[in-house]
Amino acid sequence: MNDPLLFRRTMGRFPTGVTVVTTRDDAGRPWGMTANSFTSVSLTPPLISVCVDRRAGSFSAFSGCGMFGVSILAEHQRDLAVRFATPLDDKFTGLATREDHPGAILMSGAAATLACSVHTRVDIGDHVMLVGAVEECALGQSAPLGYCDGSFFTTAGVDTPVGERRPGRRILVGWLVEYDARILLSRDAATGAWRLPVGPLQAGPTMSAALVDTSRALMGQVIEPEFLYSAIDLSESETCHVYRARPSVLPEQTRDLRLFAEDEIPWAELSHSSMQVILRRYFDERVSDRFGIYLNLGAGRIAKIERESPWTADHAGDYERAVS
Ligand SMILES: Cc1cc2nc3c(=O)[nH]c(=O)nc-3n(C[C@H](O)[C@H](O)[C@H](O)COP(=O)(O)O)c2cc1C
Repeated sequence: MNDPLLFRRTMGRFPTGVTVVTTRDDAGRPWGMTANSFTSVSLTPPLISVCVDRRAGSFSAFSGCGMFGVSILAEHQRDLAVRFATPLDDKFTGLATREDHPGAILMSGAAATLACSVHTRVDIGDHVMLVGAVEECALGQSAPLGYCDGSFFTTAGVDTPVGERRPGRRILVGWLVEYDARILLSRDAATGAWRLPVGPLQAGPTMSAALVDTSRALMGQVIEPEFLYSAIDLSESETCHVYRARPSVLPEQTRDLRLFAEDEIPWAELSHSSMQVILRRYFDERVSDRFGIYLNLGAGRIAKIERESPWTADHAGDYERAVS
């Protein structure tokens, strides 16, 4: 294989995060570069590696250092990714950083940080590979920035558990699909219990596209959501955002996906008590066609929607003109 550009583009197809790797040279001058060659090497002991190009201005600092820092950039830190990928005389002025281990300069607001001592240095091809022993690592509050095919992307919404307030919590999407006064329920293959169709939000360029793909993944058909009806905790680890939908054509049904009228619903066999609450409330509210948005995150609350308006055309452009 003798096609460096093809090799570059092939490797660029592999999505990575983006890091800023830093150190200080013998004179104490800080150096830093954007790097996506960062990867984990060993769990016990905890080792990571990063490869530095021999042509980089910071090469000699990294090839002589004893300590270095890795900041896994957060999605709002693209400017740092660009700054540290540019050969500037001073990349650090004005930045909020911390440096508990001298040489490991870590960016404030990063998705995660690691302070490493050099474990092994390997000359490989036109790079030097630094293998770092992790002295300290810490998680930040934000979702990480991604990089693929030469572009940055955000990873929030890619089913990433983020945030210290409710750590590890999965956000799921649920569907309250009504057709002809009947509600679509799906049967959980593992437990046999009936419930609203629920699953992870699929990827998509917009929320609407992601929701449509989610309906396809869950119900084998495209169902357009109308409005967000409830946000409920299903368990210690799962929160569900339930959308109401009223398709104009009869949804396809299978053995495990069926429409139920109110008096047919297997109330005792519903998988979650919160789904009972949602369905009972829904049948109550649809009598008057007045709906409320229910939150059971903490103390239960209902925000009333007095009059349900049908979809209107997209006036986002008018709005932007009005506020600009
Ligand atoms: C997303 C991204 C990832 C990069 N990853 C690396 C890398 O892993 N190793 C490397 O040597 N250069 C990498 N670079 C290029 C360096 O950041 C760039 O050459 C920078 O100018 C080096 O800084 P310096 O010249 O001040 O040392 C990357 C650039 C970008 C935009």
